[in-house]
Amino acid sequence: MKRLIVGILVSCFLLAVAACDYGNTDADQTDVGNFLERHWPAVLPAQGQPPATYTSLEASLAPRSCGECHAAQFAQWQTSLHAHTMGAGIQWQLQLMSQQQGNKCLRCHAPLAEQKALVALQQHWPNAPAEPPPPWLPAELADAGLVCAGCHLRRHQRFGPPPRQELSGDLPHGGFVISAAFQDSRFCAACHQHQAKDQPPTIQGKLLVDTFNQWQQSPQARQGVQCQDCHMPERQHLWRGIHDAKITRTAIDVEMVVSRTAANSVSVKTTVHNRGAGHYFPSYMVPKVTLVFSLRQRDSGQVREFYRDIIGWQVNTDLSEQQFDTRIPAGESRQLQLPLTLPVVGARWDIELVIEVAPREHYERTFRQSLTQADRLPAATVAVLRRALAEAEASHYRLLELREPVPARVIAN
Ligand code: HEC
Ligand code: HEC
Ligand code: HEC
Ligand code: HEC
Ligand code: HEC
Repeated sequence: MKRLIVGILVSCFLLAVAACDYGNTDADQTDVGNFLERHWPAVLPAQGQPPATYTSLEASLAPRSCGECHAAQFAQWQTSLHAHTMGAGIQWQLQLMSQQQGNKCLRCHAPLAEQKALVALQQHWPNAPAEPPPPWLPAELADAGLVCAGCHLRRHQRFGPPPRQELSGDLPHGGFVISAAFQDSRFCAACHQHQAKDQPPTIQGKLLVDTFNQWQQSPQARQGVQCQDCHMPERQHLWRGIHDAKITRTAIDVEMVVSRTAANSVSVKTTVHNRGAGHYFPSYMVPKVTLVFSLRQRDSGQVREFYRDIIGWQVNTDLSEQQFDTRIPAGESRQLQLPLTLPVVGARWDIELVIEVAPREHYERTFRQSLTQADRLPAATVAVLRRALAEAEASHYRLLELREPVPARVIAN
């Protein structure tokens, strides 16, 4: 461990003095809040010239360069949504924006100053740099999304969590600075929480992005469970969320109790308990989770849908009005009690519940509405918009299927 710290001190000598402000490991350990204020300012400053001692591989900001040595993190990150934050969904909008408007989005979607400069070149924005980018700044970085350097590099100095094992000898890129902030939910709040001081839009007084605050109110937060514990288990760089059936299945327990209340009537009582999401289920206004209830006649196989319930925060496409908010806070439940009349007495029946997830439902509606005005948009933009809609639709999946028989007779309880 001692050697590691030495590695850091040496690198501080070689770097611009300002980088050394970060360098005190002990202070960083105890003062996560101060560290994060410096690590996530509203606008990230440029990294500047790489230290002369760096090889071209160490100097490069490209994720694939980090991946030459950090192969596991690179392979995982590539499959994550953080590697796709510059997808079609934001690209068509950037094409219609001024640089000033665009940079507001890039703050979370491509946070490095160098990325913003590359996007400006790509979009032919007026303040784009006149010089071609240096070799350590490959053009692919413009579309690479939330890259390794966005979270780990400031002035070419690496920052990371406490290492898993003692390290010794000279480390590449002049070692790294350790900070406990990497294992703290506040690290993620930089982008997963709107700050009231920025006067973000609200609907009925509610912030559109409020995940960190929701987490703070959760039973998990009281037990010290951080975002990373659920979204980066074993430090994996996967960040699975509502787009992934496996982690979403861990969010909820679903119970359906079917009872016969009379010869031809049934009561279906369903409870959806948010057990495993450390924030609202779902957190944000974009995803919708639909419960589809059907009555199935067992002998004929005929199925008839009789009820739909949507879990989510539905907001209109101009973000001016809430239609409903049925999200389930962490640790709480949503209950439905549905009465139902059987069409034929004497047949055998099952109640089926299918839960479907549309992870980007709000964007689907927004994109469809924008397409109704396609004749007013450049053809190239419309092509990207169509791709964004197709990708959002392709992300739908079936989370769960339950089937319960309707009891043959009325049981008094
Ligand atoms: C030439 C190989 C090499 C390259 C290139 C490289 N690293 Fe490293 N890095 C290492 C080694 C070796 C360590 C020591 C600890 C380890 O193996 O994780 C390390 C440590 C780190 C740590 C600290 C890990 C911890 O335990 O806290 C971070 C963060 C990191 N690198 C990020 C990056 C990023 C981001 C890039 C690309 C911009 C990069 N590295 C490029 C070899 C490299
Ligand atoms: C405060 C950080 C932040 C800012 C600023 C921001 N976004 Fe996002 N954006 C997010 C987060 C976080 C998500 C993912 C949330 C989720 O999936 O639940 C997201 C998701 C999206 C998506 C859906 C993903 C996709 O690729 O289809 C689009 C589109 C999008 N943002 C566009 C924009 C645009 C346009 C702007 C600027 C007007 C913007 N964002 C500004 C944080 C931000
Ligand atoms: C969204 C921010 C973010 C991005 C992007 C990101 N990381 Fe990390 N990284 C973290 C956090 C947070 C941790 C600590 C997780 C923990 O300890 O639970 C971490 C840990 C690490 C570690 C230490 C891993 C270990 O097993 O000890 C390395 C090395 C690393 N990251 C390299 C990379 C590389 C390389 C990339 C790009 C391919 C990358 N990171 C992208 C946030 C990020
Ligand atoms: C106890 C585990 C747990 C914790 C802690 C947790 N999450 Fe989640 N998160 C989940 C699960 C499970 C899902 C999938 C279901 C869902 O979307 O609610 C999810 C979904 C998400 C999504 C998808 C979008 C959405 O609208 O739901 C985002 C973004 C997210 N989490 C970010 C965070 C951030 C940031 C933190 C910390 C402030 C955090 N999570 C804390 C388990 C957790
Ligand atoms: C620099 C901004 C930024 C930081 C920091 C950041 N994220 Fe994200 N995150 C985003 C954006 C933007 C998206 C949306 C990607 C998309 O859908 O295109 C996202 C997506 C996600 C998703 C996927 C949700 C889904 O819809 O399935 C999860 C989970 C997540 N982030 C968790 C985390 C956690 C945990 C941390 C902290 C270790 C973190 N993020 C830090 C910007 C950020």
